[in-house]
Amino acid sequence: MIDKSSPIPLYHQIEEVIKQGIEHGEYQPGDVLPAERVYAEQYQVSRMTVRQAITNLVNERYLYRIKGKGTFIAEPKLEQNLKGLTSFTEDMSARGMKASSKISKFDIIPANRSLAEQLNVDMHTPIYEIKRVRLAEEIPMALERTYIPANLIKGLSEERVLSSIYKYAEEQMGLKIKSATQTLEATIANKEEIKLLEVDQGGAPVLLMKRTSKLENGQTFEIVKSSYRADRYKFMIDLER
Ligand code: GLP
Repeated sequence: MIDKSSPIPLYHQIEEVIKQGIEHGEYQPGDVLPAERVYAEQYQVSRMTVRQAITNLVNERYLYRIKGKGTFIAEPKLEQNLKGLTSFTEDMSARGMKASSKISKFDIIPANRSLAEQLNVDMHTPIYEIKRVRLAEEIPMALERTYIPANLIKGLSEERVLSSIYKYAEEQMGLKIKSATQTLEATIANKEEIKLLEVDQGGAPVLLMKRTSKLENGQTFEIVKSSYRADRYKFMIDLER
């Protein structure tokens, strides 16, 4: 499996061996990685080479280290298609995963200038302000701040936003969410995100997604800021030319 005459560096070949072990389910998330010396002996390479491979995989987050305990296999990232105006609940159920939410804020607030502009409503219009941690199989994936004009979706309650807002809007309120504009940018978890998303204090990367979605009649339905854990998520899109 290791080709010493290949121009591909040995550490890179070892990386591939370990990655394949993860992909083929030889190692499970949370398992401890075999010791450096095990790979060094098995593939007849130096421990330095193995160490380099492991460090690279830690940097790429296939593996993680716990001081004094060893190196472990990380959870694989969820791949999210950027096409398609789907909800978190739909995204998770498409993967056979259970979505849930923890609510850290549910209020009706008067629109300030910025909210009024973004939602295309008059200032002081009542707006739902909802802050939810979105979980997949009980693991926090994203922190989501949602703003929806209160008159669009009457009867929204803390209990209802525990599950899908899109489902409630479409199935109970008969609204048609039709289109959205979305941006994606890289950030570092702030204090609140560190706590609610249970990520590292020292600069954990977060992918900030901002969505403005519209109803069939052109009205703005919501503005949402979602901070996705960059260690759990990657985004993909198919391109053609
Ligand atoms: C995704 C989107 C949000 C949207 C949410 C609705 O997370 N990034 O913009 O508001 O889905 O999710 P649900 O219907 O599960 O409440």
